[in-house]
Formats: sequence, C-alpha cells, structure tokens
Amino acid sequence: MLKRFSSDKVYQQLFQTAFTKDENPVTVKNVQYSIASFIKTIVSFQSAYDKKMLNETEQKGLQLFQSKELKCSQCHSGVNFNQPQFQTSPYFNTGFFTDTFVNKGLFAFTKNKNDWGKYKVPTLRNLVFTAPYLHDGSAETLEQVIQLYEQGGKPSAVNKHLFITGFKLNSQQRSELMAFLLSLSDSTVITNNVFTNPWTIK
Ligand code: HEC
Repeated sequence: MLKRFSSDKVYQQLFQTAFTKDENPVTVKNVQYSIASFIKTIVSFQSAYDKKMLNETEQKGLQLFQSKELKCSQCHSGVNFNQPQFQTSPYFNTGFFTDTFVNKGLFAFTKNKNDWGKYKVPTLRNLVFTAPYLHDGSAETLEQVIQLYEQGGKPSAVNKHLFITGFKLNSQQRSELMAFLLSLSDSTVITNNVFTNPWTIK
C-alpha cells in the first residue's frame, strides 16, 4: 500500500499538503488518519425523518416500528437506529440463518456458544442505497427482510433472540412500515460533489 502511494505523484502531493510536519508523510498511521478523517465528513442527517417531514403513511410506519408487537425499536434505536434500547451488547441472533451458515457471527471471535449467529445491529439509514441486506447480502429486498421478521425467523433457527417472535401485518401496514424505513434515506449525501472521486473527473 505504501509503495503504491509513494509512487503516485498525486498522492505524494496530497500527503505533503496534509502532513506538513512529517518528513516522509506516507506512513500507515497517516493513511489510517486520512481515511478516518474522510469518513467523519460523511454526515447524513437530511432525510425526511430528520427534517420532521414524515407524511401520514410514514408516521403510521413509525408507530408500527415502535409498537410492542413489532419491537423493531427495541434493537434499532438511537440516532442511527443501530443501538438496542435495553442495556446489553449490540449483537443479536435474529434467527434468519440456520446452523449451516458460513459466518457464525460473534461466536467466531468469542467462541462462546451463546454468541452463535449473533450479528451487530446495523443502521437503518440510507437503506434505499444499500441493497442487498443482512450481513451476507442474502436478502435482495427490504420486503424480504420484513417477511423474515413477520415469520419470526427460520423455524429451525437456534439461539434466536426472544424478541423475534413473528407478527401479522396486512398489506397496508406492510407498506407503512416500508415507507417509514425508506424515509430514513438521505439522497443529498450521495449527490454531494465533495464525495465525487476526483480521479474520475477529467
Ligand atoms: C433482537 C433485535 C432486533 C429486532 C427486534 C429487530 N432487529 Fe432488525 N436487525 C437486527 C440485527 C442483529 C440485524 C443484522 C442481521 C444480519 O446482518 O444478519 C438486523 C438487520 C435488519 C435489517 C437489514 C439492514 C441491512 O442493512 O442489512 C433491517 C432492514 C431491519 N433489521 C429492520 C428491522 C425491523 C423493521 C424490525 C421490526 C420488525 C427489526 N429490524 C427488529 C436486530 C433486530
């Protein structure tokens, strides 16, 4: 990586401009620092939800999302909808995968049987742009994810969290829930020129 950066004239220049005090600025540390600094500039809080501009359908979807029956907001909470409301780690087994799956989730790191199939709660922001879904991309559409929640995960799933019990929605309610989820998307972040790759502009 360092070789590639050092042999690229544009990057050499950029590193020198950004890290004026370093004699040789192309270091692993500076690369990490640069990427982290860039990521921190990606701020996405311009969705309809953030602007408090939810229409009636989206409002109803929000109510379903927070309802006792669906319990979505129990796990998907906080400003990015990726934190549980109750005091616990942010890793859960949603029961969408059976024991034949390749990625064993948190278990792969802890080797604790209780962590089998637990994945970190992902943000629900900008779902319009981030298909396919789930850790392995196995759900092509949001409808498929909602269907998995509706049926309460796979019948043969092991170690499933007790909040994944399944529930019934009529087609109108399903559209309302979908509408709410989509209202968390912010198109300004993907059309912002600041994030255009300068190398693609000639
Ligand atoms: C027990 C905690 C829990 C509850 C309750 C819960 N989720 Fe999740 N959710 C998760 C976890 C963990 C994942 C990640 C699963 C994976 O990657 O395999 C996830 C993934 C998702 C995803 C996929 C996001 C992506 O980018 O891949 C969506 C959409 C979603 N949940 C919506 C909902 C909705 C809607 C509800 C309510 C019906 C809900 N969740 C209830 C924990 C929960």
